[in-house]
Amino acid sequence: MQKELMEKFVEVYGEGGEIREYFAPGRVNLIGEHTDYNGGHVFPCALTLGTYGLARKRDDRKLRFYSVNFSRLGVLESSLDDLIPSDQAGWTNYPKGVMWAFEKRGIKLEHGVDFLIYGNIPNGSGLSSSASLEVLTGLMLKDMFGVEELSMQDLALIGQYSENNFNGMNCGIMDQFASAMGKKDCAIFLDTSTLDYEYAPVKLKDARIVITNSKVKHSLVGSAYNDRRNECETALKELQKEVDIKTLGDLSEEEFEAHMSAITSDICRKRAKHAVYENQRAVKAVNALKADNVEEFGKLMNASHVSLRDDYEVSCEEIDILVDLAWQIPGVIGSRITGGGFGGCTVSIVKNDAVDHFIDTIGKQYKEKVGHEAEFYVVDIGDGAHVIA
Ligand code: GLA
Repeated sequence: MQKELMEKFVEVYGEGGEIREYFAPGRVNLIGEHTDYNGGHVFPCALTLGTYGLARKRDDRKLRFYSVNFSRLGVLESSLDDLIPSDQAGWTNYPKGVMWAFEKRGIKLEHGVDFLIYGNIPNGSGLSSSASLEVLTGLMLKDMFGVEELSMQDLALIGQYSENNFNGMNCGIMDQFASAMGKKDCAIFLDTSTLDYEYAPVKLKDARIVITNSKVKHSLVGSAYNDRRNECETALKELQKEVDIKTLGDLSEEEFEAHMSAITSDICRKRAKHAVYENQRAVKAVNALKADNVEEFGKLMNASHVSLRDDYEVSCEEIDILVDLAWQIPGVIGSRITGGGFGGCTVSIVKNDAVDHFIDTIGKQYKEKVGHEAEFYVVDIGDGAHVIA
């Protein structure tokens, strides 16, 4: 593929100069959902799927973008003097946002670039194709312009900053962190209140991670996400009148039960309950995994789904069908919605000898019930973003 992308680059932009290559992965979160903007823990891992980028420095301030996935759009031109979001800019709002965020941090970009990208993360699946593009762009700029002082963690923060302030999606740090900091065969146990993290080997014995794509993405994803954030903030403010906490992640389940009556709205109370319990579940799940108790890990995943469905209300009919079907299959250790929600994917841990049956059975029944096919990916955990030598 590298060779084909290099040929494509030359075809699109012409010969000459040094062309550098980069990769940034997508992610799947195993547990700890909607906790990253509540000061809680998350447990994502980087995939081997992601976004590739090839870039060459220019002498002027022009920016030229080309996506192999959106080849019909051709080359999209812009300039370092025009880093403002716009509808016409389409997908280039992501790399442009990162360039804007570099400048906001006081890092002057003196030269434009020719940038070609290709992604193999299924589009709109909730596996963080946009975060991978942000981290990819950050890495490309750091490498091309020799910005030594930026760590990979800084690139994650810059990606999140650009997503929040340039692209208007108020996401937490999980996706960009996983893309920048991932490690082969490990998930990242990240405390989002301090950014302390630990790599935990994902030893599933005789089981695999299977991602199922519902192939639905309900509209209003961004606004519903931002609503959830606001509801959690309202709950936090009310709780802070009674308890000395900085985030919902500071509370144990017992402390929450003792003070939850401080939250006046039923909706906000349910949202906060999810945030508190899900954070504790993530901690318990990582301990279970470390103790080689994959079954317990799976049970916590199932409980996570119930909470996201009933209390956080970010699931949808199609996703619930996938999870219900998965729960009925012998050899499924755990299954839940993953990512922001309102469609997208489920993540399941499935015994090796049940994977084929899982894909066949759920594939058929989902098609019957929903009317379109689901897609399945038996995935490996890969490394975080890197320069391709
Ligand atoms: C999206 C956001 C993340 C996180 C998840 C939910 O993927 O980008 O920051 O909040 O939803 O866990």
